[in-house]
Amino acid sequence: MTYSRVGVVTGANKGIGFATVRQLALQYPTSQTNTGGSLLLYLTARDAARGLAALKEIQNDPKLKEAKALKEDGGLTEIEFRQLDITDEDSVKGFVKDLESTHGNGKEGVLDFVVNNAAIPPLDSTVVKTTLSINYYSTMSASRTFLTLLKPQGRIVNVASTVGGLFYYPDALRERFVATKTEGDVTAIMHEYQDAVDAGVEAEKGFPKGGGYEVSKAGLIGATRALAWSAEKEGKEVLINTCCPGYVCTDLNGRTGHSTPDEGADTPVKLAIHDIGCLTGAFWRSGEQIAWKDLKFPEGFVL
Ligand SMILES: NC(=O)c1ccc[n+]([C@@H]2O[C@H](COP(=O)([O-])OP(=O)(O)OC[C@H]3O[C@@H](n4cnc5c(N)ncnc54)[C@H](OP(=O)(O)O)[C@@H]3O)[C@@H](O)[C@H]2O)c1
Repeated sequence: MTYSRVGVVTGANKGIGFATVRQLALQYPTSQTNTGGSLLLYLTARDAARGLAALKEIQNDPKLKEAKALKEDGGLTEIEFRQLDITDEDSVKGFVKDLESTHGNGKEGVLDFVVNNAAIPPLDSTVVKTTLSINYYSTMSASRTFLTLLKPQGRIVNVASTVGGLFYYPDALRERFVATKTEGDVTAIMHEYQDAVDAGVEAEKGFPKGGGYEVSKAGLIGATRALAWSAEKEGKEVLINTCCPGYVCTDLNGRTGHSTPDEGADTPVKLAIHDIGCLTGAFWRSGEQIAWKDLKFPEGFVL
């Protein structure tokens, strides 16, 4: 079968990633990007057993079965599992090869959208390297790789967080983050942060203490913005944005979040398949764009 649309969600075996796959499948039939053909969605996970269990669960979802039965004239969604660990070069290369051989056919681009959702939670200061490695370096590396596979008008959605806002930092560091123009500028700040952590002086250097989650998400917002600008400069007609899903009840926060995973999927799904005009390089929360420099917790928000 050939599909007119192809999408990918990373870290989709549970939480917001899983809900994003489910909501994409439910909402695609009525989305503005549905031009009549079917959508193939790749539910990806680093662990095959967990990914296949998630696929089984989604295939038995009563709402999805109902939506399929009602929609006979195109706009259907098929979901397949693929193993993808964003930190493992071979796993990424294997997935890319698979996408190219399955959907290539000499056409320009193979993907319509990617939701880079995979991340690890805030842990303690012993894991800063791992947190930056997954949430910043590997997510940006996957973004660059997926960018080369995007069709014209394709989209990348990087799931960041409100904690990537700049309210944790002293003025000088905040201004440096805001002034970043290239991914290299942002990575330089990530290096400085890691060096400060290694020397035990991150608080003195103006960085928040902890496992690096906040800094990794600030880096992700800045570097994704830079990637969007550079794609635009190169004349690529693609939309690359970051978002916060809200404070969502998942394993990531020990299930203390206030929103459901389906609610958390709202903004990533909007950025992947609904009408967002031609906005690129922006940060979004609750379906709205927010300037990075103004990003903070909503009024009355309690963690
Ligand atoms: N929950 C919230 O309140 C909240 C708020 C703001 C932002 N976010 C962001 O939303 C996204 C999803 O979070 P969540 O709450 O749904 O967390 P979650 O339930 O812990 O899910 C995280 C997912 O990422 C996967 N993952 C971790 N490392 C990976 C790797 N190297 N390669 C591929 N997949 C990997 C996990 O796989 P395993 O199951 O194998 O570990 C899991 O599927 C994250 O980017 C998070 O930072 C969440």
